[in-house]
Amino acid sequence: MTQFSVLVTRKLPSSVIDALRAVAHVDLYAGVAAIPPDELRARVAGVDALVCLLTDAIDRSVIDAAPSLKVIANVAVGYNNIDVVHARSRGIVVTNTPDVLTESVADFTWALLLAITRRLSEGERLVRRGEWKGWALDLMLGTELRGKQLGLVGLGRIGRAVAARAPAFGMRVAFTSRREIAGAGMGSGPDAEPMSLDRLLTTSDVVSLHVPLTPETRHLIDTRALARMKRSAYLINTARGPVVDEEALVWALQQHLIAGAALDVYEHEPAVHPGLLGLENVLLVPHLGSGTTETRTAMADLAVANVVAVLGGRPPVTPVPE
Ligand code: GLV
Repeated sequence: MTQFSVLVTRKLPSSVIDALRAVAHVDLYAGVAAIPPDELRARVAGVDALVCLLTDAIDRSVIDAAPSLKVIANVAVGYNNIDVVHARSRGIVVTNTPDVLTESVADFTWALLLAITRRLSEGERLVRRGEWKGWALDLMLGTELRGKQLGLVGLGRIGRAVAARAPAFGMRVAFTSRREIAGAGMGSGPDAEPMSLDRLLTTSDVVSLHVPLTPETRHLIDTRALARMKRSAYLINTARGPVVDEEALVWALQQHLIAGAALDVYEHEPAVHPGLLGLENVLLVPHLGSGTTETRTAMADLAVANVVAVLGGRPPVTPVPE
C-alpha cells in the first residue's frame, strides 16, 4: 500500500503515525494550531487520504483541491466540520470515531455537572486570589443533585452513557431525542422519561446537551429556551458550541434567569464570548470532553484504521451515518 499518500493535519500519538507510515507515505502538519486553510488546500492536492480534526474546515474548496482523495477520516465523533454531502458526491468516504470516546465524554459531563453545582471553579478562584477567610457554615453553598431531574437533550451513545451514571447521584433522567427535535416524534430510551424539549426545559434541574450540530440543533438553546428553564437550573454543554446562542446565554446568566452553566465548547471556538469571562456562575474549559490519553489514542487509532481499510479496498470501520 506504500504507493498511497496521506495528509495528517495535526500531530497524533507517534505509535499511530508509525502504524500509518507502515502502509503509506505520510505528510504530517506538525503545527501547534490548526493548519491554515491555504496550506491545507495546497497539501491535500494529490493525497489519497486525509486524517483531520474538528478544527479543520473540510469544505467544498478543500475537497475540490484533492482530486485523488478517497477517504476523509475525522479524529472526532462529530463531523460538522466536513461537507459530507459534497464529499459523497465525489465518491469520498467520510469516517468519524464513535464509541471509543463515549465513556470518557460521559465522565467529563459529570465532572462539569458536579463542578458547577458545587461551585468548584468559583471556590478555586477564591483560594487562588488569597481571599478565603476560613471555613464558614454558609460559604459558597452549592446544590444537591439527589432527587433532582437531569434533562438530556439528545439520547445517542453519549447521552445514554451520561444517563447510566445518574443513579449513582440519585438523579432521575428525562430526555428529548433528536427525532423529537426534528419533529419526527419521540424516540425510546433507557430508564429515562421521554418528553418534549419545552417540558424538559421547564422541569429539569440540570439540562445537558448531547446532540450533534446540525441545521436543526443550531441555536436550539436560544433566548426563548433559556427563559423557559428554571431559575435554579444549570446548563451543561459538552456537545457543540453553536447549539447554544452564546449571546443569549450571557444575557440569561447576567439576569440570573438560570443558576449557572458549564461549557466545554463555544460558538466561535477557540474564542469565548467576552461576556462569559467575567461571570462567576459559569465554568469554562477548553474542549476537553474526550481528553484522556487512552481515549485520544483510541480515536487516532480508529481514524487510521478507517484510512487503512478504505485504501486497502475494504469497507470503512466507522463511516459517518447516511
Ligand atoms: C469532540 O468534540 C468530538 O466530536 O469527538
